[in-house]
Amino acid sequence: MGLQPKYAEVDAPFAIERMLVGEHPAIVKLRALVERVAPTEVTVLITGESGTGKEVVAQAIHTLSTRSNQPFVPVNCAAIPHDLLESEMFGHERGAFTGAAGSRHGLLTTADRGTIFLDEIGEMPKGLQAKLLRVLEDGVVRAVGADRSTRVNVRVIAASNVDLAASVARGAFREDLFYRLQVVPIVIAPLRERRSDIPLLTEHFLERIRDRVPGRELAISREAMVTMWSYDWPGNVRELENMVERLAILCEGSIIDTSILPEIMVASARPATPPMKVELGNGGVSLNNLVRELEGRLINDALKQTAGNKQAAARLLGLKRTTFSAKLRRCGVIAPASLDESEEG
Ligand SMILES: Nc1ncnc2c1ncn2[C@@H]1O[C@H](COP(=O)(O)OP(=O)(O)OP(=O)(O)O)[C@@H](O)[C@H]1O
Ligand SMILES: [Mg+2]
Repeated sequence: MGLQPKYAEVDAPFAIERMLVGEHPAIVKLRALVERVAPTEVTVLITGESGTGKEVVAQAIHTLSTRSNQPFVPVNCAAIPHDLLESEMFGHERGAFTGAAGSRHGLLTTADRGTIFLDEIGEMPKGLQAKLLRVLEDGVVRAVGADRSTRVNVRVIAASNVDLAASVARGAFREDLFYRLQVVPIVIAPLRERRSDIPLLTEHFLERIRDRVPGRELAISREAMVTMWSYDWPGNVRELENMVERLAILCEGSIIDTSILPEIMVASARPATPPMKVELGNGGVSLNNLVRELEGRLINDALKQTAGNKQAAARLLGLKRTTFSAKLRRCGVIAPASLDESEEG
């Protein structure tokens, strides 16, 4: 009696696998890092392209931290006009500026004992960056127009979709704040660098739709999945999520097929690789690089043509399956994992 199940949290609604879906090594590592930093108090800086899941990671860190019963306060530094951001974050006294009729708490005070998520921190004006540094170093905030500071206990998680180190080099971001923020830097890879998760994420979003609309049967055809796998997803996971929602609306039966995929996606999946034109000019060429490039192109085309079937793709190229797989690994093309199972042989 009294023994707690060791992995009680696995069934919890906030199990990290459900928040941060993915089996690509980059995501497995990311989840491990999140679990490691969450229970600590360190400041975290999350970098990644738009839609890669920066807010998801920030939420997960908060949810898995000892502050999870306290507020999680997201602040989008790019969405609030610069001259308002200071009073939004730090609060203001009555009469501190024109229009400040009463005094007001800032978001840092709202987040007291919890977590503040400073999104797009690269957009924060430099004057405010100095004030934020004081919060991080001394744990105090001073409202606009106030003559004294008050203590706050907030954990800061920041995010940026621009390279903050480059902003520091340009003089647009304070170097001391940069280092103070990125005690633990977390970088999220764009979706096109973890394509093997596209089927899994698609299934995750389809499942959410099926849960929302009881009785709705909805699946995706193998060919459509391969097309989605080949697309570059400039809007990353958010774009994929919106695409699945849209396809679910457009789909008349229960199978999402290539016919309802947007033309831009179908075109990107077409094996339309232009023939390579190589000339040995006076400067010469790198034969090794060219051979590698040609190999990569043909492997990609073969996979597209065979809807991701490695066995058939190997046959198209006159290679043994094992040789083909070795080449696949070497040129960094990752076949969609869930499609592998349906291969013959
Ligand atoms: N690994 C993941 N598993 C499940 N859902 C995800 C994952 N990554 C992102 N999402 C979903 O994709 C959408 C975009 O994620 P999020 O808002 O965290 O991105 P972001 O990096 O903050 O984007 P932006 O820079 O545009 O603010 C959200 O709806 C989120 O739930
Ligand atoms: Mg975001």
